[in-house]
Amino acid sequence: MLTDQVAIVTGAGRGIGRVIALTLADRGANVVINDVDGESAQATAAEIEQQGRESLAFVADVTDEAQIEQMVGTAVDKWGRVDILVNNAGITRDSLLVRMKEDQWDAVLDVNLKGAFICSKVVARPMMKARGGRIINIASVVGLIGNVGQANYSAAKGGLPRHHL
Ligand SMILES: NC(=O)c1ccc[n+]([C@@H]2O[C@H](COP(=O)([O-])OP(=O)(O)OC[C@H]3O[C@@H](n4cnc5c(N)ncnc54)[C@H](O)[C@@H]3O)[C@@H](O)[C@H]2O)c1
Repeated sequence: MLTDQVAIVTGAGRGIGRVIALTLADRGANVVINDVDGESAQATAAEIEQQGRESLAFVADVTDEAQIEQMVGTAVDKWGRVDILVNNAGITRDSLLVRMKEDQWDAVLDVNLKGAFICSKVVARPMMKARGGRIINIASVVGLIGNVGQANYSAAKGGLPRHHL
């Protein structure tokens, strides 16, 4: 059980992140629902409150360190701790290699890889103070074996650490 632990899930307004957030809440955690889309973040947070846990919807772009610092600061002010970070926010901008534009490469590397770096770095401070914490990166099999049209996605997912740091 994760009773009274505090989790942050990025990109949790919908999809896999939403289900991870609901599952963590089901196990007893209070959960920060991060997303760039405020409406969906609010909806997931409301579902968690219905489960009898506390939740906080926080609109922040994982690529913006100042916004992420505000988000983590708000969680620490509210609950005094951050135990779990799930780096889930991710995008695709698929295109065959020869047609892929630099902005497609940059967007995917920024959100999927730099975003995880920024969020991990910011939560590492309260986790180190508390002498514990868990950071979970949602990678992809495409990061291991590659995929047609996904040179950017494959590079980003392959760059996520898979082991203890
Ligand atoms: N869907 C799959 O089959 C699959 C397979 C392997 C890995 N993944 C990975 O799982 C994760 C979730 O995938 P999904 O299918 O649920 O995606 P999704 O597109 O349904 O949801 C992603 C969420 O992230 C949010 N988001 C996007 N950019 C953001 C940013 N800069 N800051 C904060 N939030 C942002 C979006 O608004 C959205 O709510 C991704 O990292 C994806 O690469 C998905």
